[in-house]
Amino acid sequence: MSRVATDRPDGADRPSAVIVLAAGEGTRMRSTTPKVLHDLGGRSLLGHALAAASSVTPEHLVVVVRHDRDAVAAHAVSQVPAVLVADQDDVPGTGRAVQCGLDALPSGALDDGSVVLVTCGDVPLLSAQTLHRLVETHTAAGAALTVLTATLPDPTGYGRVVRGEDGAVMAIVEQKDASETQRAIHETNSGVYAFDAGVLARALPRLGRANASGEVYLTDVVGLAREEGRVVTAMTIEDVWQTEGVNDRAQLSRLHAEANRRTVRAHQLAGVTVVDPATTWVDATVVLDQDVTLLPNVQLHGETTLCAGARVGPDTTLTDMIVGPGATVVRSHASGSRIGAGATVGPFSYLRPGTDLGVKGKIGGFVETKNSSIGAGSKVPHLSYVGDAQIGESTNIGAASVFVNYDGLTKHRTVVGDHVRVGSDTMLIAPVEIGDGAYTAAGSVITSDVPAGALAVARGVQRTVAGWVARRRPGSAADRAAAAAQARETDATAAGRHDTETSPSTHQTETGATP
Ligand code: UD1
Ligand code: CA
Repeated sequence: MSRVATDRPDGADRPSAVIVLAAGEGTRMRSTTPKVLHDLGGRSLLGHALAAASSVTPEHLVVVVRHDRDAVAAHAVSQVPAVLVADQDDVPGTGRAVQCGLDALPSGALDDGSVVLVTCGDVPLLSAQTLHRLVETHTAAGAALTVLTATLPDPTGYGRVVRGEDGAVMAIVEQKDASETQRAIHETNSGVYAFDAGVLARALPRLGRANASGEVYLTDVVGLAREEGRVVTAMTIEDVWQTEGVNDRAQLSRLHAEANRRTVRAHQLAGVTVVDPATTWVDATVVLDQDVTLLPNVQLHGETTLCAGARVGPDTTLTDMIVGPGATVVRSHASGSRIGAGATVGPFSYLRPGTDLGVKGKIGGFVETKNSSIGAGSKVPHLSYVGDAQIGESTNIGAASVFVNYDGLTKHRTVVGDHVRVGSDTMLIAPVEIGDGAYTAAGSVITSDVPAGALAVARGVQRTVAGWVARRRPGSAADRAAAAAQARETDATAAGRHDTETSPSTHQTETGATP
């Protein structure tokens, strides 16, 4: 189906079609990735163009492809499933590209007088609001063509907008074809237009290639529309960022930074505290609730949602994460996971996909987790790996424990119940189950299930060989240290015997401190 879903009941200003041009090669990117597929803040350049185009709810949305057509077409469909893909043929130029776009429409799609918008796949900051305004301005003027223009301090490279004395647009002249006088014009063609469908359809087949580039210029429609006695107007935009295209990677980062400034500012005005906007990078796809706080050096990517009062940073990267209300994440790296309300993570932890930390749970310092649920109020405070595990509620995993999930061939699961105390340095060799309320002794290697309420001890019994150093390392620093310690102990024992006689309270204290 070619229809783009709409939630606007009134069809008044609804364009028949938006044609997004994306057939160009983008050589200056010097990349094996097609230019329009480069990322800018969580969406490809083309993704931004398609999002803006979709927002005006056209009856048909068309993307024109040629260079790397399969990759670009597949990506476009992944962004907007209803998009129509039009292939541009060997004939070069924006005029030909739009012709190919119109040819992809079902017959009868265009009524005379309906509106067709043309935009570029490499202009990522063009806003939905600007496109809406363009349609309104165009319709209100009853124009054949309305071009979006920007007045630039340095117009080099752009088509220049030549206006008549009445302000009407007489022509758009490319840099290469322009006279000295025309080159001195600072008003430029952004490459975004609203057309009367009938005028456009009649003009395109008549365009020639007699120009400096030998291409079919879409901008030559201006002259043909005027021949029909129709008005050609321009809508000038002050916010020139919205008309800037990406040609190389320096421009890509410049526009990314500006898009980010806009995104961060919008969040700030909606009630998010951002301590350092310059080091905070938030993708367009991220959702931030009121009273979220972002500390310096935070990157939020993809489908990330931070709920009210969540506090993230400093130095944290979150991708496709859900962070619950009031949760905190400090100096950590996390993706594809969920952090419950009031839970805490970090510093220095790594949450891999499939981690689900329960309400008021804790993942402390130097912990790695993957594909594991950690129940409400449960804690993994220090230096542990938790993989393929299901941990119940109010359980504590002692420092330096490892969920040993991989036998070299397959991954196995570990199930730990509620109110369990896993001792420090426990190796849980999966598959294994620890029942509710069970304990494991520190340093245990647990290979068999532990029933509820049991203590499992699985470690070597300690053997202490007294006097070994004096016999096997005589005269060493260790020997001297041991001898001195033994001498102090003998003295203390003698003094203790003396103290007992004079001051029983001191003796009691020492005994109390001895385990
Ligand atoms: C065009 C305009 C110019 C305007 C500039 C704004 C023409 C003749 N000139 O310049 O007045 O200032 O855009 O950026 O239209 N494309 C195709 N098929 C093609 C050629 C281009 O799909 O055969 C697409 C590109 O992928 C890009 C857009 O059209 O998305 C603009 O192409 P580009 O080559 O950058 O523009 P110019 O023709 O130089
Ligand atoms: Ca260009």
